[in-house]
Amino acid sequence: KKPVRILAIETSCDETSVAIVEDGRRMLANVVSSQVDIHEKYGGVVPEIASRKHVETITVMLEEALQQADTSLDEISAVAVTQGPGLVGSLLVGVVAAKTLALALDVPLIGTHHIAGHIYANELVQPLEYPLVALVVSGGHTELIHMPARGEFRIIGQTRDDAVGEAYDKVARALGLPYPGGPHIDRLAQMTDDPLELPRAWLEQDSYDFSFSGLKSAVLNVLNQTKMRGEVIPPARVARGFQESVCDVLAEKAMRAVQEFGARQLVLAGGVAANRGLRTVLAERCAQAGMQLVVPPIELCTDNAAMIGAAAYLKWERQSFTPLDMKAKPLFTL
Ligand code: KG4
Ligand code: ZN
Repeated sequence: KKPVRILAIETSCDETSVAIVEDGRRMLANVVSSQVDIHEKYGGVVPEIASRKHVETITVMLEEALQQADTSLDEISAVAVTQGPGLVGSLLVGVVAAKTLALALDVPLIGTHHIAGHIYANELVQPLEYPLVALVVSGGHTELIHMPARGEFRIIGQTRDDAVGEAYDKVARALGLPYPGGPHIDRLAQMTDDPLELPRAWLEQDSYDFSFSGLKSAVLNVLNQTKMRGEVIPPARVARGFQESVCDVLAEKAMRAVQEFGARQLVLAGGVAANRGLRTVLAERCAQAGMQLVVPPIELCTDNAAMIGAAAYLKWERQSFTPLDMKAKPLFTL
């Protein structure tokens, strides 16, 4: 049987990425161009700049991906693209490129959900087993998802304010760390065993929702108050306290969901899945509970097109294609 080669495009935020994924599992190419150094000086992603940069970079990434996979466009079975959620101007660049390719090559187009991509990134490494619970944590998302079967998503909890990655980036900024701040806080947090005492937002007793803006404000208040008193708290203590507060709540709720839904796996996904503190608590808690923890390798945690190719393969199997007049959906629901 001829292998299915999906060419996938991801441009939902500030990474321009093109991948070629065979049979939903084998990554033949996955090239990512990050705009981080451009947005760094603004302390966050500037949407207008992001979309312009995608326009400049997309064809370069396409050529690099074909080269890396040592393949030509004739070998492509379908074109997949992140349809949403994301920044509309950024999404549009990928969507237009994907439509153009699909039309020119006369192959199906597969519009793909970004969060499904983060979850299915794991399939590039190992098979997923259902039912599962996925914890998706990124700069734009904090979602606890119950998947009773392949392709079925039930959002059981989400953030009521800031996304985890967003809270990380804001706290990092307050500590004078560069954007994106998540990895810096993570590194600082490993440097002390003396966390600053900070609150945890558990919300209602049986809720799977999250809230991180109170924690973020608590950090900012402490920093302001100590500054006014002319004191300095070691940044590592702040980072450690913040990280422990975030990871405690994420881990506690994820483990409760795993129990309630009789999950066979707990799947971690999204940019914040790179966090060492979070990986460590979840590994401990899962080992105690005899539960399998599935975590993607770091390069598949942050935004990349290979994850979109993996997610699109499910639609290929079902021959569920997307019409060429589809639109980018900045607020795509799972
Ligand atoms: O998934 P992603 O690349 O983009 C979105 O879809 O949002 O996630 C980026 C987010 C940023 O907020 C970044 O600070 C955070 O992931 N991040 C981390 C770590 N690495 C990346 N947060 C905490 N610890 C890390 N090691
Ligand atoms: Zn993402």
